[in-house]
Amino acid sequence: MLIPPAVIEEIKFRNDIESVVSAYVNLKPAGSNLIGLCPFHSEKTPSFTVFKNTQTCYCFGCGSGGDVVTFIMKMENLDYVSALEFLAKRVGITIPRNSNDEQRQVRSTRILEMNKSAAKFFHSCLISESGKEALEYLKKRKFSPALIKHFGIGFAPNSFDALYKHLKSQGFTDKEMISGFLCKMSQKTNRPFDLFRNRVIIPIIDTKGNVIAFGGRVLDDSLPKYLNSSDTPVFKKSKNLFALNYARRDCADRIILCEGYMDVIALHGAGFSNAVATLGTAITPEQARIMEKYTKSVVIAYDSDEAGQRAADKAFKLLGEVGLDVKILKMTGAKDPDEYIKKFGPERFKRLLDESKTHFDYKFESILSKHDVSQTPEKLKALSQVTDVIANVASAVEREIYIAKVSEKLDVTKDNLKHDVDKKIRQQIKEKQKNESRKIMLESAGFGDRINPDYAKNVRAASAEESILSIILTYPELLKKVKDGTAELCADDFFTAFGKKIFEKSIELYSDDISFDYGLLGSEFTPDEMGRITAIVLKRNKLSQNGEQELYDCIKVLKSEKEKQTASLTDIINARRNKQ
Ligand code: UTP
Ligand code: MN
Repeated sequence: MLIPPAVIEEIKFRNDIESVVSAYVNLKPAGSNLIGLCPFHSEKTPSFTVFKNTQTCYCFGCGSGGDVVTFIMKMENLDYVSALEFLAKRVGITIPRNSNDEQRQVRSTRILEMNKSAAKFFHSCLISESGKEALEYLKKRKFSPALIKHFGIGFAPNSFDALYKHLKSQGFTDKEMISGFLCKMSQKTNRPFDLFRNRVIIPIIDTKGNVIAFGGRVLDDSLPKYLNSSDTPVFKKSKNLFALNYARRDCADRIILCEGYMDVIALHGAGFSNAVATLGTAITPEQARIMEKYTKSVVIAYDSDEAGQRAADKAFKLLGEVGLDVKILKMTGAKDPDEYIKKFGPERFKRLLDESKTHFDYKFESILSKHDVSQTPEKLKALSQVTDVIANVASAVEREIYIAKVSEKLDVTKDNLKHDVDKKIRQQIKEKQKNESRKIMLESAGFGDRINPDYAKNVRAASAEESILSIILTYPELLKKVKDGTAELCADDFFTAFGKKIFEKSIELYSDDISFDYGLLGSEFTPDEMGRITAIVLKRNKLSQNGEQELYDCIKVLKSEKEKQTASLTDIINARRNKQ
């Protein structure tokens, strides 16, 4: 391990979990614990719990959990050591440095420098002879020279090593180019080659002004249309938004959220400098939270096709959950904002923006447009669909407003409509309960268990195993008895590979000099695995008080299951022999 255990202990001691988590989650007391909305999945009722006495946290909704280090790993997307560094900095502890750390530090800044150099190179290519065709293409799309300059748009020449040679001449290493997603090692020539070739290049710039990634578009209809940087040490696509570096100055009232780079560039060109886009993926909860930091409302301006509208539905939900006021823009006669502005001009787009609808109005209108409500059967269908939509609205006040609207428009009484909506809500609750208990049943039986796939193979053994782990991770003095052999238990007694690894690592990490806590396993397990380990430790609450007796009982169960398994193996072998 890079950081001495005593330093880890000090860092954890000084970073009280409640104060760390509070910076991200609004916590409220619940008994001796604290609860809040889970930052790792979307939810409306809090299931994220902070246990003050054990300094751990766990989400009963999504299974995320661990100690303060695991929390920061997951929240800030850091590895174990970086999370410790983050926490150390937070409380002013300096970690004794070694060369390894420095290497990693250097790498991020080197990649940022390299990206800057690459962006300059791409831009100079665009305005040189080799970029003629690309420049022509951009002109055809009505991107003015000023706009091209504003976004630092460039061109990657049709060559396997133009960028490679340039970066090499600037002193960047092969390793840096590969880890920055600019080059890839060729299996054939055993030399790196350029990933972006013959494409218009759009640099992605963060709010600090760093070039963190690139998107590249082909000049024709060939596929794939876009090539985007994958995640690198300086770039996480789920945590960034294209053009936020410009939009952030102009978006306190409203952000326009688009699907594509080109939509955003065209919008900025037409004076809508509050437009941003996700980076080739559906919107993530992190991106929703980022927007919430900069603005109070978002207008979704996705493509007008079916896929765009489905994506808009999802975006609406995520953005609403972080407390943003969300509207949807309805475009007809063009497939996306870029095309719309070119066809109808900025003024008409401004009107669309101001006419953008709340989710309910949008849905209601689209239901009405699909049914001829002068015919009774059609009207009933429309009513049933709109009842569904209203039943999904969490706020009773909002529901009341919608019910009034629909009752007027479709000429039915408010009382009857409310009756139907309430009935739907009851049905939905029942349905949800059914699904949840099904999910719990499947999960406790181990089906679909990604973290411990062996669980389902022998539930009795796996469950005994979890009880054992729960006990020894809660009571280090019992872990000690296992380690020194007082309690007879060895790694091979374990049934699942996951349980075995937890056992082995705990024994390895336990030492008399430090106060063992299971958070130390964070250096060996992923944050998702740590969530599961937390769940196992929490199981302790359900066990009886006499941990030691229970430990011996569970060891017995485990060993007898193991014997059965060996016995049945012998049976199989004997059966084979008899056949021959
Ligand atoms: P679009 O196909 O709508 O792109 O994809 P666009 O921005 O409108 O581009 P033009 O107008 O055809 O030039 C929307 C977004 O989805 C991602 C890109 O981020 C794109 O901007 N995408 C699309 C990819 O990442 N890869 C692809 O192959 C296609
Ligand atoms: Mn487009």
